Amino acid sequence: MAGMTRGMLRLVAATALAGATPWSAAAQQIAPIDAGAPQISARANGVDVRAAGTVMRVNALTDSILRVRIARGGVFAEDASWAVPAGFRARTVKVTPAADGFSTAAVRVRITAAGGLVVEDLAGKVISADAPRPVDLDGTGFTLRKALPFGQHIYGLGDKTGDLDRRGQSFVDWNTDSYKFMRSTDPIYKSVPFFVSAGGEGGSYGILFDNTYRAWFDFAHRDPNTLEMGAPDGPIDYYLIAGPTTGDVVRRYTDLTGRAPMPPQWALGFQQSRYSYMSADEVRQIAGRLRAEKIPTDVLWLDIDFQDRNRPFTVNTQTFPDLAGLARDMKSTGIKLIAITDLHVAAAPNQGYTPYDTGIAGDHFVHNPDGSVFVGKVWPGPSVFPDFTRAKSRVWWGGLFKPFVHDGIAGFWNDMNEPSVFETLTGTMPLDTVHHIASDDFADRNATHAEVHNVYGMLNTRATFEGLRTLQPNERAFVMTRASYAGGQRYGVTWTGDNSATWDHLKLSVHQLINLGLSGFAWAGADVGGFTGGPSADLLTRWFEIGAFTPVFRDHAEKGSPRAEPWVDGAEHLAIRRRFVEERYRLMPYLYALADRNAHAGDPVMRPVFYDYPDALKASCDQSMAFTLGASLLVAPPPKPESPQTYNVCLPAGGWFDYWTGLPATPMKASGDAPIMSATQTTPEQRINGDMVAETPRLDHLPVYVRAGTILPRQPVTQSTSEVPTGLLFLDVYPGSGCTGVLYADDGHSMAFERGGYLRQTVRCTVSADGMTIAFDKRQGSFSPWWKQIAVTVHGWKGAGAVRQGTRTLSASRDDAAQALRFTAGDLAKGGTVTITRG
Ligand code: GLC
Repeated sequence: MAGMTRGMLRLVAATALAGATPWSAAAQQIAPIDAGAPQISARANGVDVRAAGTVMRVNALTDSILRVRIARGGVFAEDASWAVPAGFRARTVKVTPAADGFSTAAVRVRITAAGGLVVEDLAGKVISADAPRPVDLDGTGFTLRKALPFGQHIYGLGDKTGDLDRRGQSFVDWNTDSYKFMRSTDPIYKSVPFFVSAGGEGGSYGILFDNTYRAWFDFAHRDPNTLEMGAPDGPIDYYLIAGPTTGDVVRRYTDLTGRAPMPPQWALGFQQSRYSYMSADEVRQIAGRLRAEKIPTDVLWLDIDFQDRNRPFTVNTQTFPDLAGLARDMKSTGIKLIAITDLHVAAAPNQGYTPYDTGIAGDHFVHNPDGSVFVGKVWPGPSVFPDFTRAKSRVWWGGLFKPFVHDGIAGFWNDMNEPSVFETLTGTMPLDTVHHIASDDFADRNATHAEVHNVYGMLNTRATFEGLRTLQPNERAFVMTRASYAGGQRYGVTWTGDNSATWDHLKLSVHQLINLGLSGFAWAGADVGGFTGGPSADLLTRWFEIGAFTPVFRDHAEKGSPRAEPWVDGAEHLAIRRRFVEERYRLMPYLYALADRNAHAGDPVMRPVFYDYPDALKASCDQSMAFTLGASLLVAPPPKPESPQTYNVCLPAGGWFDYWTGLPATPMKASGDAPIMSATQTTPEQRINGDMVAETPRLDHLPVYVRAGTILPRQPVTQSTSEVPTGLLFLDVYPGSGCTGVLYADDGHSMAFERGGYLRQTVRCTVSADGMTIAFDKRQGSFSPWWKQIAVTVHGWKGAGAVRQGTRTLSASRDDAAQALRFTAGDLAKGGTVTITRG
């Protein structure tokens, strides 16, 4: 336990044993920051506040992002971060000083007489305020306290379990292999120390608490009005991000920690996995069945049994005699292979095992305090662990993928990277194992595992991602990870680990995926059907329905559990599951435009309803299972998915259509015949409560609504994203206020989109007394899409309509039962308008 103080040992022991916040340990040796009057001195972009031997430095990096660091004894900790790149930390913005603080163009920072930090909007509404006793120092540990007034809700913190709203709960960040975790299990696999508060008087704000040690959070759990965060060691360093909207906060958080890269389009397709498909023959059979049953699929996953004795970077040549041939054959059917590649390298000297031999030669593994290489047991038996904190070791690791990339493996799966170590009390490596940090703007230095543990998984994916980008500079890299840290979205997509085949886990997965999206991880999935236990037929069907609307859509199940491929429960279930997978493929143009949006702006793909409709926070319905896919689609599964009980869906104000029928879902409040609704036409009660719609669960149906004011692009079903759709692009126009949609396309896999090889086009609609105009902006980018014509359906349309594109008249058909007008327009690559005159 070299390098640890006794105080820290106590803290670590208390948290390790109790798995809870170490309140009793934190109670001694308290040195409050507010002892004595604080002295405030102005800096170019903020203030220093001196009190009780500490300095609190508040800097504005941008008008809405503040960085707060507290120096014990006046000495600041090393200014380095795995989450926030140096370039962003160096940003400054000019501030206007005041006697008690400063202001930016967006916020006012006030230091109270007691030395507390208050952040307000420019109208004086409080965004965030320190609690009366804002800082406790205890040995190397510390606790920070802020007020959490009634009415503020807390979201984010990655995929931690529990309810969607984190208020009233407390959590510990310590990446942990949590096989069969439950709703109450904490910590689990990831540490994303970022949360968003929504519902406060100054609007939403977020805090990134950039401390990699075993940090803790308490959101009005111990004290009903206080938010606490602390750690047993490490820097006191956090970023406060002002909104006012939740979207502003999340987008700015991805400015700060980086965005998920544009994924390959195939990653948005359906993915079939099992621990494990045991042979190439079995992989071929599964692929054949998927195609025979016409279940669109883009990916099959190879779990650890494709390897020789579970050794990463090997292949079992008995069962997978020709991996390259298998990948080639799969590719010809439109299926990509993803191969698991865990970080633990088998400790297998003198056996010609390259990862071990080259790793030892390059000194790339984590050491014991006595200088020997740390060995722990994982899938391959005794294993050694790459030290991903060294840039050189990451480069070495990245190079190991070369033969697999060469064989045509399309993506890689980094599992067990908490890291998981079997047959130990803690489930991971000892806290005093030694890493040697040589990376970014960190000082070259040794660090204990206690410091590195929570970033280890993220650095594993960084090594894989950067390695793949180097090996194939013109291809997008796909990495899936189980463990990660704030900013990990830059390197990998994620999933929620070893969930169970229960209805409660289906519910939990929705909360986990929403909170991951709010934490920067827009690309996330949960094992469809549940990893352990084997789902009932109904559960697997429901999970397929909901999974089809989640960012990463992968069916995966544990060894020894019943099979969970889509066909296992007979024709009726298969038909429903197929229909939902197909719908996912129809929606591909919309999903892909959301991917483009996420890559540029950081908006999550799957969102809580209040993300785009803040009044939903006050809705009276049970919205615990509702979510949106982008702003336009509201998916409303039963809040009790196992129950046939009727439930209400609260639709936010503004009007909605039923996705499946295209009919208005809320009463039209139209003037005359015009198929339009606007926010001003709804009553104040409706604006708060929205329009309630009663739904009675049916196993073959999932309620989905489209916001009035949406132009939704869809395409004909294909069997994979590599199949070019034949026919027309579908554009469904749902009239309403702010009516827009975005078309996005590129080649789906290369980096050409960064050099102009993409297509982005906004389409808008406006309704007038005489009819409607659909305006296509000029296209951005040089990519030529697959479609030559567009099949337009205008919903909520009554009567006839005369349609013109430029000077051409287009023939239109009316469908009175569906309240729709349909016509085919030309491609409008250069932009232009289509006008519809009411007939
Ligand atoms: C872990 C993973 C699981 C995988 C298994 C074997 O339990 O979470 O998804 O199938 O290891 O690799």
